[in-house]
Amino acid sequence: MVASLAELKKQIDDYLAAHLKADVDQQTLYESMNYSLMSGGKRLRPALTLATVQMLGGEVDGDVMHAATALELLHTYSLIHDDLPAMDNDDLRRGKPTNHCKFGAGMATLAGDGLLTLAFQWVSDNHLSSAVRAELTLALAQAAGPAGMVAGQARDIEGEHQSLNLDQLRYLHRQKTGALLRYAVLAGGIITEQSQPIKAALADFGAQFGLAFQIYDDLMDVLGTTEQMGKHVHKDAGEHKNTYPGLLGVAGAKQQLQLALDKARRTQQNLSELTGKSFAGYDQFLAYFKL
Ligand code: IPE
Ligand code: IPE
Ligand code: MG
Ligand code: MG
Ligand code: MG
Repeated sequence: MVASLAELKKQIDDYLAAHLKADVDQQTLYESMNYSLMSGGKRLRPALTLATVQMLGGEVDGDVMHAATALELLHTYSLIHDDLPAMDNDDLRRGKPTNHCKFGAGMATLAGDGLLTLAFQWVSDNHLSSAVRAELTLALAQAAGPAGMVAGQARDIEGEHQSLNLDQLRYLHRQKTGALLRYAVLAGGIITEQSQPIKAALADFGAQFGLAFQIYDDLMDVLGTTEQMGKHVHKDAGEHKNTYPGLLGVAGAKQQLQLALDKARRTQQNLSELTGKSFAGYDQFLAYFKL
């Protein structure tokens, strides 16, 4: 049985609330890290890992929680740095003032540094097998680092001075947002020690989900409200961001979102055929996209 998204979120919230403090040895740094970490994220990334573990028949114990919630530390770092004055210069995140507004840019930078580094600590400081820990560490570094999310963020800020075509924009979105979501799903396969073809299919599902996620984020910057999103909307165009609705219009962006979701659903089906197990637990994640 796969837990509901609400149950997974509660489990993740409780785990993070209980385990951050022990690993941070400076009070202001702890407050700054904890402020962003506990300010109400949806927890989709670790929830995807945990749901994947459960669908593959694995047990979610303390060691799996430690490894899975590491990704939320890393994701939160990416948001703190994304909001910095030198990046997207945002003052609202998860419905609250951004980290640098509350703690200053220096402490916000360090809170991000701390969360990024601690993510790798949590992925390796647990009782999963050493092979599993090594594989998670490599996959997370590839997803988060200069060939993954960070490269996407670099393309994003450089793109403020260029107009990208659809292939370039898709590549940017796959890196800046797709890579971490791809890792989230793949991690469930690594933890439960699946075969290479199954891990490839999991990674493919995560990559399509991740592309869809950033297209949807672009769309919600145009169509959503601040209350709904917990961050300011209608910002991307003013900052000359390359986005799907900016390039294709709202209808064209929705079409591309649908294509990514169709591919994700086909991979979801393929996973069932490969494993003989149900992957209906992904439906609650796909329900996030409301067109
Ligand atoms: C926001 O991610 C940043 C993007 C990659 C678009 P989420 O929408 O998952 O943000 P939280 O974690 O729920 O705040
Ligand atoms: C994704 O891009 C952010 C990260 C990869 C950290 P955005 O800049 O569009 O995310 P939001 O809209 O600020 O959440
Ligand atoms: Mg950004
Ligand atoms: Mg941003
Ligand atoms: Mg955005």
